[in-house]
Amino acid sequence: MSFSLKGKIACITGASSGIGKATAQVFAEAGANLILTARRKALLDEVAEEIRKKSGVKILTIELDVRSQEQVENAFSFLPAEWKSIDILVNNAGLAVGKDKIQDYNLDEVQTMVETNVLGLIYVTKAVLKGMTERKSGHVVNMGSTAGHEVYPGGSIYNATKFAVNALNQGMKMDTLGDNIRVTSVDPGMVNTDFSTTRFRGDKNKADSVYAGMKPLVAEDVADAILWAVTRPPHVNINEIIMMPVNQSSNLLVHRDPV
Ligand SMILES: NC(=O)c1ccc[n+]([C@@H]2O[C@H](COP(=O)([O-])OP(=O)(O)OC[C@H]3O[C@@H](n4cnc5c(N)ncnc54)[C@H](OP(=O)(O)O)[C@@H]3O)[C@@H](O)[C@H]2O)c1
Repeated sequence: MSFSLKGKIACITGASSGIGKATAQVFAEAGANLILTARRKALLDEVAEEIRKKSGVKILTIELDVRSQEQVENAFSFLPAEWKSIDILVNNAGLAVGKDKIQDYNLDEVQTMVETNVLGLIYVTKAVLKGMTERKSGHVVNMGSTAGHEVYPGGSIYNATKFAVNALNQGMKMDTLGDNIRVTSVDPGMVNTDFSTTRFRGDKNKADSVYAGMKPLVAEDVADAILWAVTRPPHVNINEIIMMPVNQSSNLLVHRDPV
């Protein structure tokens, strides 16, 4: 079974940290040239430099806030010619902010989640998928979540965005039928990244308590699943991967070792 991405162009959104960064690393090891995007350009350039040194692949970094339709359109319309034919798009940029009851939610934070996780994913997909359908070749990987399968208290807005990603993933598969496009949703449970620190607005102690007494997934576990999905034989579509740590059985059911 081949895990090579040699000569492919892969675009990963939200590649400055966590799952996006780990995916960039494994894609580069498999030989893909990378378009990496995120808002924190300096951090993104550091990630790119580290990967370049190890793998020697070509990397283009783009400062991009996926919430801005204009930025997304500009970024993808003005790609240098050698980068235009994107083979793999990983719609990874996303976040949760807050864990409040819907009646208490700060509406700016609601907007941030909906604009990033849903609208941003739609803007980027539209900008990249058109070319894929014209070339009759491409693979879109959407970063879903177990939050898109099962609602939990305080998660309603984030849940709604990831249920939307689930629907978009299924819709993309239908809308591209006959165009030789592969569409995959990768839906992890608990992964120890900056995700919880962002969710708890920078409160590191609160973030750490999410993973207390259990062994969560790490970003590399999810990147490994993404690499597997994009390296199946060309006629095989992996529709959805749902993955969790062994000590998690649902969004609310987590086994923790006594302290
Ligand atoms: N960690 C988990 O438990 C978990 C579980 C299931 C699914 N997920 C999903 O996995 C994805 C990656 O999260 P992670 O766990 O790797 O967390 P992370 O380390 O916080 O990474 C989030 C990434 O998204 C980018 N991002 C956020 N807002 C953006 C925006 N407006 N425009 C462009 N990029 C943006 C960030 O880059 P900048 O800040 O530099 O823009 C960062 O690179 C998300 O879609 C998340 O919902 C995570």
